[in-house]
Formats: sequence, structure tokens, C-alpha cells
Amino acid sequence: MSLKRKDLVSIASLDPDEIMLILETADSFKEVSGREIKKVPALRGKTVVNFFFEPSTRTRTSFELAAKRLSADVINFSTSSSSVVKGETLLDTARNIEAMQADIIVLRHPAAGAAETLARGVKSSVINAGDGWHEHPTQALLDLFTLREKKLTFKGLRVAIVGDLAHSRVARSNIYALTKMGAEVRAVGPPTMIPAFLDRLGARVYYNMDEALRGVDVILMLRLQLERQGPALFPTIREYSRLYGLTSERLKLADSGALVMHPGPINRGVEIAPEVADGFASVILDQVTNGVAVRMAVLYLLSGAS
Ligand code: CP
Repeated sequence: MSLKRKDLVSIASLDPDEIMLILETADSFKEVSGREIKKVPALRGKTVVNFFFEPSTRTRTSFELAAKRLSADVINFSTSSSSVVKGETLLDTARNIEAMQADIIVLRHPAAGAAETLARGVKSSVINAGDGWHEHPTQALLDLFTLREKKLTFKGLRVAIVGDLAHSRVARSNIYALTKMGAEVRAVGPPTMIPAFLDRLGARVYYNMDEALRGVDVILMLRLQLERQGPALFPTIREYSRLYGLTSERLKLADSGALVMHPGPINRGVEIAPEVADGFASVILDQVTNGVAVRMAVLYLLSGAS
């Protein structure tokens, strides 16, 4: 079994069968992560390079664990420890890494399109671990895996994605993934944070959170990305929190069994109340756990291993 592609750069380029293949492959890798010895030899002899130009807790650690559980050799690079700080370009750096026989390069970069550029420039497989505002495909895949694990069916599933959709690669990848699988996506936030093209991606736009949450099965909260915003997009954080923060009261508007998701890192008390983040409906840490299995599946399927 393998994906018939060299790279995973976006969800937009995947078809539903490829998404299902990744989720089903992740099922068996989830079982591996529950074993006493969490290791299989599937990628023995392969080299995975994590190349992170932006801070990351979940994605970088998760890719490293995933590669190690598959028995690959793993190298971690960050901006400060690479010759990029001396002026070397991304592509030149990557070609040097490739010259050392790297099989898979996992890239996180602040520029949208960086992963696509790299994928075209090197023979190694490239996995996009988040590129600027563009996409974060493995995040959307692990979100889908978590929903499926909780026995939710994608077709007709009502999902509200709330917050700063304009700056969110997680939102974009999830809108592509959920709509491809037949879900109904509601994009919720202030007008300054909802780009005009979202309805063309198949999401229905809401500016009123209470209206948007009525009857939804899943609420996916987004982090306020203060580091990616230029001029302020709302008067104050307190105002934003009052209008778009997920509280226990607001959660009651959703379906009684609704799940709460967040890609992390969370701003407690800003976009999500602590009692909701830690409450019965939250699957935030399940998402993190599932990230390892999903990334094992992606690494395995791209490696062409059989
Ligand atoms: N969800 C996510 O991408 O988190 P990190 O920035 O910690 O990798």
C-alpha cells in the first residue's frame, strides 16, 4: 500500500479515497502506539529530516515520535541551528540535506507555498507540517481520524470552525478535508477574520456564534494568531472573547453529544474557557495522541513501503 504521490503538501490535492487510505492505515499504527514496545521496522534504513522554521510543540514532536516508532533515522533542524541564518536559501539547504540521502523532509515554514516549492525542487518526499496561512494537512487528517474514532460519520456531520479563519492553515485544511468527506462546515468569526473566498470552498459563513453553534456535532476552535495579524482585527481581546469565546453556556447550544476540538496551542480564557478545554466534550488531547498514528501512516505511505 502506498500513496501514489511523492509528497503531501495539501489536503486540496488529495481525493477522498486517499484520505480514507491514510485514516485506515493510521488505525493499525494507533494499535502500535498502545503496545509495551512501541516500535515496528516499517521504515528501517530510511531517513526522515524534520526541518522547522517556526516554533512547534505538537507537530515536531509528533513527527519525530512517528518516525522513530517506524524505526527510521531522524534528524531535527531548526532555523537557529541551520546555515539558513548565514543566508543559505531553503532550497539549497534542502538539497544539501538530500545529498545526505534523506528520504523524507518534513517542513514547517512561515511562508505559504514553501512546501510546494521544496517538493518541486528535491527528489525526497516532502511533507507539509504547516506553511504560513496556507495548509496544515496532517492536522486536518488527525482531526478526521479523531472524529472517526469517536464513531462520527463524516457525511452530513455539522462542524463549526470558530475564530481567526483568515490566518488559519488548520481551518483551510479542515474545510477541504471535511467538505471532501461530505460534512457541512460552518465558518464562524468576526467579518475581519473571515476571508471572502471561504464560501467558495464550500463553508457557510456565520458572524453570530450562537446562531452558528445551534445543533452542531463538532466545534473546532481556532487559536487567535496574534503573531500573524497585522493591524488589530477586533477592538480588544475581551471583546473577542465575549463574542467568539467557547463557554459552557455556549456549548449547550450544540448537539448534546457535541465534541470540542482545538489544534493547540490554546489561549485559555480567550477563545476557549478552561472548563470547556478540560471538560467532558473536549477531545483536544485525543487529537494530540492521534497525531502520532496519523503521521506514522503518512510517513509509511509516502515511503513506498509495502
Ligand atoms: N497544532 C499545531 O500545529 O501545533 P504546534 O504549532 O505546536 O505544532
